[in-house]
Amino acid sequence: MDANLNSPTTNGKLRDWVAEMAALCKPDKVVWADGSQEEYDRLCQGMVDAGTFIRLNPTKRPNSYLARSHPSDVARVEDRTFICSNNKDDAGPTNNWAPPDEMRATLRGLFDGCMAGRTMYVIPFSMGPIGSPIAKIGVQLSDSPYVVANMRIMTRMGKAVLDALGSDGFFIPCMHSVGAPLKPGQKDVPWPCEGDISRKNIVHFPETYEIWSYGSGYGGNALLGKKCLALRIASVMARDEGWLAEHMLIMGIQAPNGEKTYLGAAFPSACGKTNLSMLVPPKGFEGWSVNTVGDDIAWIKKAPDGTLRAINPESGFFGVAPGTNGHSNPNAMQTIGKNTIFTNTALTDDGDVWWEGMTDKPPAHLIDWKGENWTPDCGRPAAHPNGRFTAPASQCPSIDPDWEKPQGVPISAFVFGGRMSKDLPLVFEAFNWCHGVYIAATMGSEATAAAIGQAALRRDPMAMLPFCGYNMADYFGHWLNVGRRLSNPPRIFRVNWFRKDENGKFIWPGFGENMRVLKWIVDRVHGRANAVESPIGWMPRREDIEWNGLDFPADKFYNLMTVSRDAGTAEARGHEEQFDKFFDRLPKEFIFERELLLSRLWRSPDHWELAPADTVRPAA
Ligand code: GTP
Ligand code: SPV
Ligand code: MN
Repeated sequence: MDANLNSPTTNGKLRDWVAEMAALCKPDKVVWADGSQEEYDRLCQGMVDAGTFIRLNPTKRPNSYLARSHPSDVARVEDRTFICSNNKDDAGPTNNWAPPDEMRATLRGLFDGCMAGRTMYVIPFSMGPIGSPIAKIGVQLSDSPYVVANMRIMTRMGKAVLDALGSDGFFIPCMHSVGAPLKPGQKDVPWPCEGDISRKNIVHFPETYEIWSYGSGYGGNALLGKKCLALRIASVMARDEGWLAEHMLIMGIQAPNGEKTYLGAAFPSACGKTNLSMLVPPKGFEGWSVNTVGDDIAWIKKAPDGTLRAINPESGFFGVAPGTNGHSNPNAMQTIGKNTIFTNTALTDDGDVWWEGMTDKPPAHLIDWKGENWTPDCGRPAAHPNGRFTAPASQCPSIDPDWEKPQGVPISAFVFGGRMSKDLPLVFEAFNWCHGVYIAATMGSEATAAAIGQAALRRDPMAMLPFCGYNMADYFGHWLNVGRRLSNPPRIFRVNWFRKDENGKFIWPGFGENMRVLKWIVDRVHGRANAVESPIGWMPRREDIEWNGLDFPADKFYNLMTVSRDAGTAEARGHEEQFDKFFDRLPKEFIFERELLLSRLWRSPDHWELAPADTVRPAA
């Protein structure tokens, strides 16, 4: 078989690589994806015929499909994700590592003949607007038509990318197989994948900028432009080239006078990036608007004019479905109204989708994410907690007018937020860049569906723990360096929407009401808002926040903002434990930041006061 028989590229490296990989994987045929609507529709119809896709009711959800994965293939597999640098220390203590030669031999064995009975698709894609100075080109080879369809939504994909690549352009090779070869005459299944978890491998070779992913068809394991390229490999490129590749949403906030402020915000997986990026301002914020640039990944570079500029390398949203509804995220609900692929949600009797939290009252009958009958009293969730939608960003009502601007949007602030049920206030601001990097690096977050089997609380530096392609201590150093090269670095903030009261209820209403916190952040950026100095950073008092339109009692605000000296000290001790793992690679600055934090805590009262005087509570 000649893999380049109908090859639409003159790029010699690409032609050679495709031919070599076809010889290794032994597919029945090779198809070069052109990215056209016609091709997309044909692939989707093929998946409907094969039972992979269910076409949704075209009047309720035009041109949309539901896919149900194999129950063993529902999320990223962090335990089977590897950074194969030449030296183990270059992957660092937070990544899985294997010797590159050994891993290459393993991969050769796994990929040998792995596409038998299947089609190998060649998927050229651009992360970032084609031609943007910040964009990068990748080419994914995959035996999954589901991957092709999703990549067409999530990236700029097809012929235009090959044109941009030209005959000698650089691309990142991304090799992917679901790992389920077919014997002659063997019937396929709706969701082929490798059933043996120990044979799944999501592998990155940082020195050669290469990705090899075997055994899974789901999300970040399989859509290689996303976490593998745009975060793990890109973080290495960013270190080498002096920029940042981050697990961040990008949003623009426009004040009634037209002033526009962009910020990047990092939250761990399933902690609210999509929600925040599409926020609808609440009552009391008439005249304000929020625009979405991206919901998951930001590539950030210093521009010639000295500002930091960010692009969203993706062109779609791969968002968590459960919990999404007209109140929590009306913009997402509109975005997914058509041309959307749903994965592992429930199916309604009239051919639409449903998930927990979509409506107050669940339908009387559904087909659940596993394809079984479901009723409200059956005791099982109807949708998988990591069930997702894949939808074009262009369909988002709040999409920013500049979201595809090749040079990116200017970033004025970075926000970091984990899921912390206690001891961490709603918002505070770092004293300076170095302190801000420290706050981001020590961020903790409580477990979500994406981190199955992990401890209840884990340190997730910059929300990049599963996504940093090199030694995290060096990554901290890189962040410190980026700030040093800027004359006016963005301010850094920490937020926490997830603090709970003694009954286990969220204290803060969150969602649209987060606008109140964003306004304080924007006002701080422009030097307009007051704050008080506390041992952990600058904090707003109650009167520094805009409360118009929300009745939020002072004692609740106190509960949301207060931190006891003991809790703060225990937290700082936790940082020590985290840092020990990095030995001498840890930036010296962090040792001093921790000591300063401890000193400030020792000298503080038991509780520091942030509410107006009439609501002062006695210290515990
Ligand atoms: P990935 O796509 O996995 O990277 O995650 P993401 O950060 O985009 O997560 P997403 O926005 O889908 O997070 C959804 C979860 O966050 C749901 O459980 C929401 O209920 C919760 N969430 C989002 N915003 C808020 C908020 O303001 N308050 C509270 N309490 N929960 C929130
Ligand atoms: C995440 O887990 O942070 C995601 C989803 O954004 S996935 O693309 O599957 O990694
Ligand atoms: Mn993510």
